[in-house]
Amino acid sequence: MELLDALRLQCEWGADEALLDTPQDRRSPPPLAPLAFQKPVTPPTRRTAPATLAGPEDAARLAAACMSLDELEAAMRGFSGCALRDTATQLVFADGAADARLVIIGEAPGGEEDRAGKPFVGPAGQLLDKMLGSIGLDRTKARIINTVPWRPPGNRTPTDAEMALCLPFLHRQIALIAPAGLLSLGAVAAKALLGAEANTGIRRVRGQWQQVRIEGLPAPLPCLPSYHPAYLLRTPLAKRESWQDMLQLRAWLETQT
Ligand code: URA
Repeated sequence: MELLDALRLQCEWGADEALLDTPQDRRSPPPLAPLAFQKPVTPPTRRTAPATLAGPEDAARLAAACMSLDELEAAMRGFSGCALRDTATQLVFADGAADARLVIIGEAPGGEEDRAGKPFVGPAGQLLDKMLGSIGLDRTKARIINTVPWRPPGNRTPTDAEMALCLPFLHRQIALIAPAGLLSLGAVAAKALLGAEANTGIRRVRGQWQQVRIEGLPAPLPCLPSYHPAYLLRTPLAKRESWQDMLQLRAWLETQT
């Protein structure tokens, strides 16, 4: 029972992913120092260097120096300034076309995305695929990214500080793709992209085109905020409004050549 309680506590704290292949009993005493004639025991190596403190300015400088999506992906892989990287399995960079007319922005990778290294591959992603299919799109014709590219532990909402740290990478990816417009999914993506405009809440702002200024692009981009597919899975009644947003998006896409 005591073990079960300890496991529950870990899950509540967000430690719900196995990081090593073999279990380790952290409560047992540390192994005795090896005797001189024994082979030294090599401690398990970390997959990445631990986060070193960095601010949004460091991320912005790094992102601005990237002239291609490959460079940006490599820079983000090497960026150790965000502590989310320490608990995630890997970077979840993007999926879809590098020259897409539409960039879709979600919140953050979940467990399945963290394992696959691809955004929106779990249940919310399957619903997103259906939503795109309903207006004649699929993920190869759009670009799908997240507000933060590493899974927050326990799938918690990214903090404002984490969002601010990752924002230059999000903006740089959008600038390098130079799409005609954006679809933001859920309150977190709306807040990251629209800031104060989204403070009234996603229910007020959804379905209303906004203008988003992206560093490196000559003009603001139109952005349609809508509900997150994970919210739609929990709240099927909201699908009606989401469908209205998809219809708006289709009508707008038809005006883009
Ligand atoms: N939810 C998101 O916002 N992004 C993903 O990649 C998966 C689920």
